[in-house]
Amino acid sequence: MLILTHGDVEAVLRGQERDVLQAVQDAYVAHANAESSLPHSVFLRFPDDQRNRIIALPAYLGGARPTAGIKWISSFPANIEHGLQRASAAMILNSLDTGHPLAFLEASTISAWRTAASAALAARLLPAATDSNGVTVIGCGVINFAVLRFLPHVLPGLTQVTAYDTRAERAELLRERCAAQLPELDVRVARDLPTALAKNTLTSIATNAQHPHLDTRGLRPGTLVLHISLRDVLPEAVVAADNVVDDIDHVFRAATSVHLAEQRVGHREFVSATIGELATRPDVTDRDLSRVTVVSPFGLGILDLAVARLVVAAAGAHGLGLTVDNFLPTREKSHG
Ligand SMILES: NC(=O)c1ccc[n+]([C@@H]2O[C@H](COP(=O)([O-])OP(=O)(O)OC[C@H]3O[C@@H](n4cnc5c(N)ncnc54)[C@H](O)[C@@H]3O)[C@@H](O)[C@H]2O)c1
Repeated sequence: MLILTHGDVEAVLRGQERDVLQAVQDAYVAHANAESSLPHSVFLRFPDDQRNRIIALPAYLGGARPTAGIKWISSFPANIEHGLQRASAAMILNSLDTGHPLAFLEASTISAWRTAASAALAARLLPAATDSNGVTVIGCGVINFAVLRFLPHVLPGLTQVTAYDTRAERAELLRERCAAQLPELDVRVARDLPTALAKNTLTSIATNAQHPHLDTRGLRPGTLVLHISLRDVLPEAVVAADNVVDDIDHVFRAATSVHLAEQRVGHREFVSATIGELATRPDVTDRDLSRVTVVSPFGLGILDLAVARLVVAAAGAHGLGLTVDNFLPTREKSHG
């Protein structure tokens, strides 16, 4: 059993944004070509506690190096009050010959990077109405910081960032992190949501809002909204928009905005494409620039697998990680 800590994973991923983007795109294409197996995520919740949750994402991803495994990711929003990340995660990768667990990985960075790479890929496949050099980020936590790490790789002219968070100090913290780690970005903190939204035709939303609060109908035509947190945009605004999702069966669950929109109108016709279709069929990218486009990626376990197998291969090449030889039962004697 190979065990990779947070530090091992970070060391392996540093500077590998392009490889991660490619791995995420390949995973979407494999999924679109039915080379994957992706049961529904399971949400564990607790009695009298609507806030916290732990989600299991089992998956199989085929292709040249088939991989199976599971991500187990918790969301405890109050953690940020204590200087801890909201989300924490671990992954197990299994052998496809024996089913045995082969690797155990700390997965918070894998999860953030695959999410950000997926959003960046959608931004590349669905260019905004204007050749914008700016992005607005709503919610200034781990995920939007990762999005800012990835977007310049697909939009090389992007240098201006408008940041908004209901807690101004979080937006200020994001600005400071960018100054230290992504100095090519000029981050300005917006004082309110309408000002932030009006700045750019590309917006990334990654808040911890539990109920929709945001009307995108007044945004400039052609605006692209990366709706990563899934529950911010009002259902009626979803219905009015052109919508792209990652997987139809997955995203119409768990009280996401698209799920609530479906419950209102009784159909899913407001979704025009999946990210996998966009990646495999370039003609699908002719989007309706007279409307706002909302991308709602549920977050697929195959993306975690795609990045985790990159990490395990690179860790092996660099001799990183702890190998535990006696983790599994030894071979039964009668079988030699
Ligand atoms: N779709 C996916 O694949 C995927 C993957 C990972 C995380 N997520 C989601 O992304 C979201 C962000 O994750 P994170 O780790 O960055 O969280 P985080 O807790 O680090 O940051 C969230 C930030 O949003 C702010 N916020 C809350 N309500 C707001 C509002 N109405 N307007 C502006 N800001 C607001 C909070 O103050 C906080 O700073 C979570 O909802 C998480 O579930 C989605």
